[in-house]
Amino acid sequence: MVEIIKKKRDGEILTDEEIRSVVSGFVDGSVPDYQISAWLMTIFFKGLNDKETAVLTDAIMRSGDLIDLSEIPGIKVDKHSTGGVGDKTTLVLGPLVAAAGVYVPKMSGRGLGHTGGTLDKLESIPGFNTNMTTDHFVNLVKEHHIAICSQNDRLVPADKKLYALRDVTGTVDNISLIASSVMSKKLACGADAIVIDLKVGDGAFIKTIEDAEKLADIMINTAKQMNRRLIAVISSMEEPLGHNIGNALEVREAIDTLKGHGPADLTELCLTLGSYMLMMAGKTATFKEGKLILEQLLANGKAFEKLVEMTIAQGGDVDYVKSPEKLKIAPCSFEYKAEQNGYIAKLSAMDIGLASVRLGAGRETKESIIDLGAGIILKKKVGDYVEKGDTIALLYASDISLFDKAKIYMDDAVLYTSHQTDVPELILAVKGG
Ligand code: URA
Repeated sequence: MVEIIKKKRDGEILTDEEIRSVVSGFVDGSVPDYQISAWLMTIFFKGLNDKETAVLTDAIMRSGDLIDLSEIPGIKVDKHSTGGVGDKTTLVLGPLVAAAGVYVPKMSGRGLGHTGGTLDKLESIPGFNTNMTTDHFVNLVKEHHIAICSQNDRLVPADKKLYALRDVTGTVDNISLIASSVMSKKLACGADAIVIDLKVGDGAFIKTIEDAEKLADIMINTAKQMNRRLIAVISSMEEPLGHNIGNALEVREAIDTLKGHGPADLTELCLTLGSYMLMMAGKTATFKEGKLILEQLLANGKAFEKLVEMTIAQGGDVDYVKSPEKLKIAPCSFEYKAEQNGYIAKLSAMDIGLASVRLGAGRETKESIIDLGAGIILKKKVGDYVEKGDTIALLYASDISLFDKAKIYMDDAVLYTSHQTDVPELILAVKGG
């Protein structure tokens, strides 16, 4: 292992065997965390070429079971987000696309750094279970068109371990590591087609459109080599998506969106990703046709009914979905107010994500227990006009002492301008097909 670390440290190319031995050694426990951490850091600085990235993806994918969905008829379509703040897209998109008759097998993750995770959000619905056997997962998808499961010791265990270690060693934001992490999971899950919500900007792991396009190309090529189709929708993560950040708060907003009353940006993103999913599934010939179908499913209640069905199928207490005001929000609140008159020029997704972590909504360490009721509701978005003293955000926590720390991040997050600013573009590019 020391030789492999030194080789990458010195900028050399690793052989297939070397990469596979690192991954298998990490999974079977023969290579300790500290050596893997050093190896990840050498990759962070020296990079992996396309071939090394493909081998790493394959090794991670084969570290556990591969799900076989061939008994389910038709084209199965999966979706993945590279991670953002306020990103409750899966909670809306999964039921929405399933309601259109597409099979959506979805493996989701937990919060990483300043970003949230779908599994944590779902756990704010009491009883909702995402830990299941592969057979049960396949049966749920077959019966309900959708199931959301977690990674376990049998499903891509190498990614689960690597992801947790990257989070605490400053090695998340590397293109090859993100590509191998995302693609190994998607390929192991067995879907025929994949739509990636590739986030770019302040609150994303990828900061520039150039890096986003490079990451999209790597993922498209990896999918092609494995006979899968992939579309990457590059979307902006400059400000949080929607208004609510934090687990139970995000479930509430996802439910509003499934009932057709969601915020404009979240709704637009879900309709865009969903329309591509419908096209890839062969349900529609054009993007426009798909969007129309999805808009109808939001308006006629069928998308929301699918969330109800999915919740019951996965053991969740459906009262919390039917009456989302029951979803428990943390008892202490704080009004974050505008310090001056002006237009909001920036609401940094990164700083707001970090503020919500400080409130208890995210993990500070691997072992942290999160407060599902903590978080932030944004009362203003970029481009809105405020007067001094107007409420920009409501902060929720279980202990008032947490507000001081979060407020420091909020102060850094907000920028004002005297000029009216354009509402920033949400969908920046679409690649693949
Ligand atoms: N999402 C993933 O699944 N993996 C990463 O590395 C980053 C975001």
